[in-house]
Amino acid sequence: MLTAHRLSRLPRHFLTGEELSRDEIEYLLNRATELKRDPHASRALAGQTVALIFEHPSTRTRVSFEVGVFEMGGQPMILRPGEMQISRGEAIRDVATVLSRHVAAIGLRTGDEQMLQDLARYATVPVINMLSPLHHPCQVLADLLTIKEAFGEVSGRCLTYVGDGNNVARSLAVVGARAGVDVRIASPDGYALQEDHGATLFADPVAAVAGADAVYTDVWLSMGDDESTASRRREALSPFRLDDELLDRAAPNAIALHCLPAHPGDEISEEVLYGRRERIWDQAENRRHAQKALLELLVS
Ligand code: CP
Ligand code: NVA
Repeated sequence: MLTAHRLSRLPRHFLTGEELSRDEIEYLLNRATELKRDPHASRALAGQTVALIFEHPSTRTRVSFEVGVFEMGGQPMILRPGEMQISRGEAIRDVATVLSRHVAAIGLRTGDEQMLQDLARYATVPVINMLSPLHHPCQVLADLLTIKEAFGEVSGRCLTYVGDGNNVARSLAVVGARAGVDVRIASPDGYALQEDHGATLFADPVAAVAGADAVYTDVWLSMGDDESTASRRREALSPFRLDDELLDRAAPNAIALHCLPAHPGDEISEEVLYGRRERIWDQAENRRHAQKALLELLVS
């Protein structure tokens, strides 16, 4: 098993998940399991502050990072661009430079991929992507932890995502494939990922879920998507709804996953969301444990 010492060459930022090797993901998931058992075992942020910048709304990401930083002895600082000088045109480069003089790490949730890149380019402390238009890598660390809890390991397991080829789908492909998961992404024409990123792309949800250990879905309209496309999206994506009938096509002990927020009746049925095969609420809790392991790696 890897030790923290051997991980010292880890790149500082966590923007897409490609910054982590397969061994590092395995180490991180083991450490997350330890921290779940003993939430105050890490003091890696004692006396330090972590800035968390939210341009878009959040329930899980905000709560899991805030509580997680606190449990590690640190102070979370929530910042909203509308209340910062960013709203009056201050350059991200200058924000990155100033924040780096004060805090141990910076999390950013943004609708602007370039803003994330600029922050990472100029910050001298780790920058963590807390969701961008293209990626949601912190979510996938929690998803992998949930699969590990259900099946004992992630490598060799099959995870099928059904629905919009969005940021979550892309991160599942990127990070899941790195972790040795057989990731399949099923989307209708016009909503598929443009590249496979190590996953296998399907157009037929039934074929994609055959034998899967986990079946996963996400919203049909993401933050930043044009609201006027909602009914067109619903029509195209309805055959990809995660319901009992689709889940029955997966492996006999398959679990259902959803990053949340959910829209029961749209991308997931109420029966699956609250049913016996869901691991969705564990998945939401696992955000905190996985992100604490990540923060520990990045700041140490
Ligand atoms: N899954 C997720 O990122 O949830 P929030 O948007 O509530 O943070
Ligand atoms: N794809 C969704 C994920 C929300 C956690 C969005 O970007 O809004």
